[in-house]
Amino acid sequence: MYDSFAVIALRRISLGLLDALYNVVLNAGVMIWDVGLTLINVVLPSRPAGRVVPAGAKGAGGVWPAYEAPAPSDSRCSCPALNALANHGILPHSGRDITFRELNAAVRASYNFAPSFCFFVPNYIAGVLGRSYWTGKFDLSDIDVHNGIEHDASLARVDSFHSNDQGKVCATLVQDLLSSGTGAGGNLTTHDLSRALGRRRTHARNNNPQYSCSLFHKLFGSSNSATLLRIFGGSTKDLQPILLEERLPDGWQPSERHQMGLTLTAFQPTVLSIELGIKEEVDGSLSGQGTEKAKVQ
Ligand code: HEM
Ligand SMILES: *[C@@H]1O[C@H](CO)[C@@H](O)[C@H](O)[C@H]1NC(C)=O
Repeated sequence: MYDSFAVIALRRISLGLLDALYNVVLNAGVMIWDVGLTLINVVLPSRPAGRVVPAGAKGAGGVWPAYEAPAPSDSRCSCPALNALANHGILPHSGRDITFRELNAAVRASYNFAPSFCFFVPNYIAGVLGRSYWTGKFDLSDIDVHNGIEHDASLARVDSFHSNDQGKVCATLVQDLLSSGTGAGGNLTTHDLSRALGRRRTHARNNNPQYSCSLFHKLFGSSNSATLLRIFGGSTKDLQPILLEERLPDGWQPSERHQMGLTLTAFQPTVLSIELGIKEEVDGSLSGQGTEKAKVQ
């Protein structure tokens, strides 16, 4: 007639365990696949610099579909790269009702991330949202769940404590970042990104009463920053429109040229160099952040 509480509880637990097991097996599979793709990249010739986006895809030959700034009714998020795809109509311009599978394909073609990454990250955010990767949809702003992937101390957004619209670029922060490049021609280097993230974390710790940044979210932060080097080549000239207007400049192509794209495996050394280079201290020279204390314990 009716299940006892214990039976219901057991069913819940076993469903939870099955779910967890599914994800462990799936992610182990993704990692093996990723290592395989990394090895394939070693032997296959890289794509020519001007022809990274495949022929026939939007952005092939550096010809991107027309940019249209978002209307107030359009959904945008904390990720500049995804907003740019929507602003160019590669993802729906409304930023709404996007399938996770469509996200995978758009990131694969436009940014030349490896298929393993293009599955892993959308699958991860689908899990955060409690939706199915295979059948689910999302609006861009849905991915701004605080401490899902979105976290404090970002480079292009003020903390969610100070603004509940994570789709909005903070121009001052972006200009601080772009003017901090010490590479050739003012380009960004690994070291510049460690310094920029260190400053942001110190600033956020001192100014956001609800500041949090677990190691896990720190690594998301360094991964996001690592894309500025590995996909955008650290080019401050390109990053100006990309980060400020979320627009891909004419002729732009990903600097990652491997045939199978940037794998999680090949990406890690850059992520770790950035993260390990971070000291949470401040040089006091940044606009809008000049009042910070010299050092945080
Ligand atoms: C595959 C699906 C992706 C998802 C679900 C995603 C999601 C996110 C989220 C939630 C954030 C906010 C993190 C924060 O609070 O700082 C973020 C930031 C960022 N993402 Fe993505 N992203 C994706 C792909 C990409 C790709 C392909 C690139 C580069 C080509 C990229 C570049 C960035 C950058 C540079 C930031 C840092 C912005 C900042 O520090 O303010 N993302 N992403
Ligand atoms: C800055 O980076 C871009 C992309 O990697 C590169 O094409 C450009 O030559 C760099 N600038 C200088 C002055 O080296």
